[in-house]
Amino acid sequence: MEAKRVGDQMCRHLGSNRPPIVILTGAGISAESGLSTFRGDGGLWAGHRVEDVASPSAFDRDPDLVYEFYNLRRRNLLSIDVKPNAAHKALERLQSEWSERVTIITQNVDDLHERAGSSNVIHMHGELLKIRHLDSGEVRSWNDDCDGSTLDGRWRPHIVWFGEAILETAAISEALMSAGLFLCIGTAGQVYPAAGFVHEVAGPSVEFNIQRTAISKSFTDAVLGSAAEHLPIFVDALLK
Ligand code: OAD
Repeated sequence: MEAKRVGDQMCRHLGSNRPPIVILTGAGISAESGLSTFRGDGGLWAGHRVEDVASPSAFDRDPDLVYEFYNLRRRNLLSIDVKPNAAHKALERLQSEWSERVTIITQNVDDLHERAGSSNVIHMHGELLKIRHLDSGEVRSWNDDCDGSTLDGRWRPHIVWFGEAILETAAISEALMSAGLFLCIGTAGQVYPAAGFVHEVAGPSVEFNIQRTAISKSFTDAVLGSAAEHLPIFVDALLK
């Protein structure tokens, strides 16, 4: 089986060396938890042009539309059917059993890595369950709807919109620089800087996706198929 073969190969490649690992995750890892991806059929932007809901100018022009878009997503994330899947759990296992640091950098704004028990998770595109003050920049946890009347009326979703800088750049650079293995799971590789992280790690890299992507050629190896199915097998092989 592909995932076992690639896991065994990475094990051999690393030998007795157990380097820090960096894992980049995208919408595909949460697809099997019931959250839509961005660019697939029926993806999140279907029915909404991205610039109508995810940019500072959209928020200036029509804040109610932007608030409602994220309120719907927040309610969906908190619905009873959405829970971490076997891929999130496999990464938590890798974090707890690998002897060196394992950093998860996620483009996802959901909290499924944390619900699976992971720590050391960097949310480079923000978090759906947080809001940010428009003036002070204060960030607080928020599980309810948010709109122009929330608290003092000066709060926005804590989400990185198009044209805005990603979060935690220093922590991301430091993790990439010290890593000796890079795993990339469920991302289309179309949004930078995340799509370029594979070039910043000195060591082998593996892409997990149901199909080839814009950046597949940059990886040492690939496992084609569902992350929830294949990642647990790969992690088993790597931990042997
Ligand atoms: P996309 O929706 O662009 O890509 C999801 C990827 O996951 C695709 O390549 C799918 O083939 C793959 N996929 C789907 N189901 C899968 C499964 N079960 N197992 C493995 N792979 C699967 O989402 P991202 O690449 O994460 O930014 O999008 C990156 C950023 O674009 C998002 O964070 C968002 C968006 O604009 C912001 O909101 C700032």
